[in-house]
Amino acid sequence: MRFEERLAQDKELVEKALGNLFRGCTPHADLYDAMNYSLLAGGKRLRPILTLECCRLCGGTDSAALSLACAVEMIHTYSLIHDDLPCMDNDELRRGKPTCHMAYGEATAVLAGDGLLTAAFETALGAGTYLPARQVTAALEVLAAAAGPAGMVGGQALDMAGEGYALTLADVEELQKLKTGALISAAAEMGVIAAGGGEEERAAVRTYAQRLGLAFQIRDDMLDVSGDQDSLGKPIGSDANSEKTTFVTLKGLEECGRLVERLTHEAVSALGGFEEPWFLEELARSLVGRTN
Ligand code: IPE
Ligand code: IPE
Ligand code: MG
Ligand code: MG
Ligand code: MG
Repeated sequence: MRFEERLAQDKELVEKALGNLFRGCTPHADLYDAMNYSLLAGGKRLRPILTLECCRLCGGTDSAALSLACAVEMIHTYSLIHDDLPCMDNDELRRGKPTCHMAYGEATAVLAGDGLLTAAFETALGAGTYLPARQVTAALEVLAAAAGPAGMVGGQALDMAGEGYALTLADVEELQKLKTGALISAAAEMGVIAAGGGEEERAAVRTYAQRLGLAFQIRDDMLDVSGDQDSLGKPIGSDANSEKTTFVTLKGLEECGRLVERLTHEAVSALGGFEEPWFLEELARSLVGRTN
């Protein structure tokens, strides 16, 4: 099967599972509508695809990985809803639609984020139907650490605290590792855990995902300067408006392009020990020149 075909199939699998999560849930005013509005607005579904594919890489089944895949996408979506709020990046467009707070108001957007975060852990527990408790606990440990103050939330705090200041490259690397890298790495590692993989496989996949995650955020910073709003589905120039120090302000677009290529090469190299890494290798390469 070709790369594009398999990517489309993976995406469809994830979309379907996400679409079923809150079907028929209507009791709390706009809350579920707002959660679904953001969750089902599209997006690349990179993180859940990483979970599914890293599980397959280690010989596991899709059913073992799917709940964990949905959980990481729910947490990612919540992070985007909160990231777009006026008190954070103050953006009005996300995934090609008005941001959650533009469509539903700030209070509902905050709660929709809270709802997705909390429900994500309930969803992740669904993995217990297919996996022993020991593996579910290990996956949840990875997910919670990556989402929380030592991971994504901590990175977002550094990102906000840095607004208006000239950060160093080391500062920016640290905050990107937390705000973006942590969840991407957790997504991949949970896939290995769902397949019953050992520490060696977990470490190799972590290295792959960390390099890929850093390349991914550098490309995100590049697109904020040189991208096209229509294909990106979110505003251009948001970082400059908020006076953020990014890889682009520190290194310039050309050097960033070279960095993305180097990191992608390193990501691909990390999978050398696996029998069939071609899809994950192609996935990393496909993100180098992404336009959304
Ligand atoms: C956007 O993530 C936020 C970052 C961490 C750079 P994505 O680029 O994965 O956004 P979606 O999920 O495709 O909308
Ligand atoms: C946000 O980074 C990463 C998150 C944890 C949500 P950005 O603020 O650069 O993401 P975009 O560009 O708004 O998608
Ligand atoms: Mg932000
Ligand atoms: Mg933002
Ligand atoms: Mg950005």
